Amino acid sequence: EIHPSSAEASAAVAAEIAQLIRTKRAAGGNAVLGLATGSTPTGVYDELIRLHREEGLSFKGVKTFNLDEYVPMAPDALQSYRRFMDEHLFDHVDFDEGDTHVPDGLLPVEDTAAGCARYEEQIQEAGGLDLQLLGIGRTGHIGFNEPGSGKDSRTRLIWLDRLTRADAASDFFGAENVPRRAITMGVGTIMEAKRIVLMAWGEGKAPVVAAAVEGPETPAVAASYLQTHPNATFVLDEAASAGL
Ligand code: GLP
Repeated sequence: EIHPSSAEASAAVAAEIAQLIRTKRAAGGNAVLGLATGSTPTGVYDELIRLHREEGLSFKGVKTFNLDEYVPMAPDALQSYRRFMDEHLFDHVDFDEGDTHVPDGLLPVEDTAAGCARYEEQIQEAGGLDLQLLGIGRTGHIGFNEPGSGKDSRTRLIWLDRLTRADAASDFFGAENVPRRAITMGVGTIMEAKRIVLMAWGEGKAPVVAAAVEGPETPAVAASYLQTHPNATFVLDEAASAGL
């Protein structure tokens, strides 16, 4: 899906999320959202906040699960994805206490396997992901599923790719300060979402978008696995679609 601008694309994605929340609530249930960080989804979060303030969209009962978190990372640290989500969405709308989940970047490494298994259980207990939002890294990663990630991979501790750490350098005031590891939902975890929306803006993403959409399905580009998902859409602006 190619939109003239990222603003229009973000509004369309936010409208789909609002519709999902309202439809699930009308049926007596609660939407379960998989959320992403990075610069790409901020327009969607801004629009959801606007819909909350101006059109009464409520997030009560809605459950959220974020894709990933750096390790080690305290929740209140400047670069933490928990803090990012609080600042860009959670603090501005009306989620119920305890309904927003971000992987724990402070788990001791020896406890991460159990913590990751628990994260998967919590997703299942909530009823599974109705909609997963994704950005895409220049390595083709979704979440932090770097090249080599298997299609059946689950939530786990990974090593970040050199290119990913370089791209995060400005957030950390130097590449040497970027954590080497992260916890990420696996490709298999993401693929179980009933609906997947991957967003990409700008010419810098055009080559990796083309590889993911038109190249072979390959562990070298984790986003290429989405080709086989029954209900996944790449939502792009003109610039990000330039390689298609
Ligand atoms: C990080 C996140 C990804 C995100 C990617 C792209 O690596 N873990 O989930 O998709 O950055 O970031 P941006 O949206 O800023 O281009």
